[in-house]
Amino acid sequence: MKLWQARFSDTYDADFHVYNRSLPVDQRMLESDLTGSLAHVKMLGKQGILAAEEADKLVAALEELLKEPTVLLTELSPEQLAEVEDVHSLVEAALTARLGETGKRLHTARSRNDQVAVDIRLYLRTRFEELAERLQEAISVLVERAEEHTATIMPGYTHLQMAQPVTFAHWLLAYAQMMRRDLTKVQAVLDELDECPLGAGALATSSFPVDREYTAELLGFSRVAQNSLDAVSNRDFVLSAHFALSMIMLHLSKLSEELITFSSAEFSFVVLPDAYSTGSSMMPQKKNPDLPELVRGKSAGVIGRLQAAFVLLKALPLAYNKDLQEDKEALFTSLDVTTDSLTLMTRLLAGVQPQAERMLAATARGCMNATDLADYLVGKGYAFRDAYNVVGQIVQVCVAKQCAIEALPLEELRSFSEAFTEDVYDFIAIENCVDRRNVLGGPAPEAVLAQIEWFKANS
Ligand code: ARG
Repeated sequence: MKLWQARFSDTYDADFHVYNRSLPVDQRMLESDLTGSLAHVKMLGKQGILAAEEADKLVAALEELLKEPTVLLTELSPEQLAEVEDVHSLVEAALTARLGETGKRLHTARSRNDQVAVDIRLYLRTRFEELAERLQEAISVLVERAEEHTATIMPGYTHLQMAQPVTFAHWLLAYAQMMRRDLTKVQAVLDELDECPLGAGALATSSFPVDREYTAELLGFSRVAQNSLDAVSNRDFVLSAHFALSMIMLHLSKLSEELITFSSAEFSFVVLPDAYSTGSSMMPQKKNPDLPELVRGKSAGVIGRLQAAFVLLKALPLAYNKDLQEDKEALFTSLDVTTDSLTLMTRLLAGVQPQAERMLAATARGCMNATDLADYLVGKGYAFRDAYNVVGQIVQVCVAKQCAIEALPLEELRSFSEAFTEDVYDFIAIENCVDRRNVLGGPAPEAVLAQIEWFKANS
């Protein structure tokens, strides 16, 4: 028997029942549904919409179920469960089975439309609070790893061409900054979730004197949705959630791409922990970076589901439409994928072993100190553009000879400019190139330590 069957005379297509049924997806909102129902029933009792005695019975039964919500899924046979349309029907049926007539009064002044809207918000609130914690853990690991490596010099790139030297700490903290912005987005989603739609009914509230502020307060919402049509149809927060998840995955995907590249034999900048790699069934030597590859791959689905959510919502008339049932599966999948990706990538980051010697050796190629050589001439009074042109000619010689700038003897440097003296070699030594960039946000160990302090003060 469906909740809504009274109006129908013809039989219900069994295949359509399966197609329509949302329990497999929305059963994970069981606890939220019970919590929302409990607040609703308390309000019905307080307002005298339900007799105190009946409200009390419902409250007691709901509180009992909240101790172990999954009972509702296990107490029915698979055949009985297959008949249940959604999580809301499941809860009402369980209360009716326990309390008879009283159970049937639960749905007074309520619709599944305001019910599902509150369920998603409650469920997301828990999950996004957890996500915020996971982001904080990831940031802490990055900051801790950075503390170990403020003097570990590595090449910095633009266009994936060697550009200027940075440090491994500086590189790690770039990702910590991204995750900090992600955290801000997650917190913004939590704020957006903080508005209670309960009491909006199907679309036009109720003819009973419901106290919407009371249910909102019981459920820990600080605001009440101010328009019932909007309250039951608003899924902006679902889009915001998808966007925040997509940004997290975008950042993790970029990080993964770099780790995949840096762990290749050609780079050998990092060794990834064995725990997140697999081998090959044929090639005995292989160690493949599966975790970052999967994260990069799974980010496609998360970003795609953001797009799908936009398309789902873009042409819906007010107020509730059954299309909205499709919002949950995609959102839950993206939530799970993102939470798992973040958790595993945090563990991987804790175990990444930077190969300091390889990274330092790599900075000797690609004339990464060319800018510093130009800066040296600027220090001797050159205009930067003139200095740049002189160094450009020197780089041409280095490219032809396949050597580093510092490998050229002083008289050869002086053939380009008399301003070069013996101190130039010290000036363009790679450590000094890093140390001199002691500017706020820069790679010098002192500047990076300041960034680490900034993280500690701002987390
Ligand atoms: N399963 C539905 C959903 O997820 C619950 C709301 C059903 N409302 C209705 N009018 N059929 O959106």
